[in-house]
Amino acid sequence: MTGTSSKRIVTSMNRADQQHQVDRSAATQVAALNDVELPNGIPEHVAIIMDGNGRWAKSRGLPRTAGHQRGVDAVRRTVRAAGELGIRTLTLFAFSSENWSRPKSEVSDLMGLLKHFIRRDLAELHRENVRVSIIGDRCNVPSDILPLLQEAERLTAQNTRTRLVIAFNYGGRDDLVRAARAMALKVANGEISADLIDADSFAANLDTGDWRDPDLIIRTSGEQRLSNFLLWQAAYSEFVFTDIHWPDFDKTALENALAEYAKRERRYGGLGAVDEAVQA
Ligand code: FPP
Repeated sequence: MTGTSSKRIVTSMNRADQQHQVDRSAATQVAALNDVELPNGIPEHVAIIMDGNGRWAKSRGLPRTAGHQRGVDAVRRTVRAAGELGIRTLTLFAFSSENWSRPKSEVSDLMGLLKHFIRRDLAELHRENVRVSIIGDRCNVPSDILPLLQEAERLTAQNTRTRLVIAFNYGGRDDLVRAARAMALKVANGEISADLIDADSFAANLDTGDWRDPDLIIRTSGEQRLSNFLLWQAAYSEFVFTDIHWPDFDKTALENALAEYAKRERRYGGLGAVDEAVQA
């Protein structure tokens, strides 16, 4: 990955169009916004920290659960928009390993919404050629949820249009610890030599395996922190923070984040394209 080649966003949209039936009007809008030379096209992997459900509800005098319910509508809109825009992988931080510390009633509401989402939307996701994958620690996942998550993964395993990754009972530090433990076990069992552990073999033991790292991480609702999300995988991600509360997030908000991303220069610790040309 060099990330430094300069290309017009419209060019990469056209390529995506051939591959995944991209929504032409959306492509035109994004291209029109950026009808200049831009460093990046459509990010292959977008990850979102969906924040602000509670504040959205509070500002309307509604219970927090109403914010979470409307948050699920935003999930539906965003999955659809990601497919239309040619985003290959969309990762959503649905429930962190720390969220269990919320009041019992809120945890129960969130579990109910996730179950309802899988039961109600799985068939449509499958029809839309969306592959569902889950990351997070599967130990201690309630027994009425785990089979649903497994069924979603099994049913959609061959789908190719968009990959929807749901981070459930997920924590970045926990992901790293479980990967370290898995590698330590392999060393102890003589399956691998400790000298051969490198960044690639370590990453392969994370929940995300050999998937592409997120190109863009979006966080809604004005907070500017990672909150234990994809700590390893975010090493070279671009960040876009928006004040929009998650329940209000929609295709336009996603397009705005993509337009911001398109302007960023990704250097991966090297020199930018201009400096490289000067050095050459
Ligand atoms: C953050 O808002 C949001 C969450 C902790 C949960 C996100 C869950 C959903 C949108 C619903 C279920 C997900 C799927 C994939 C169906 P917050 O409660 O922390 O908001 P606040 O910071 O304003 O209080």
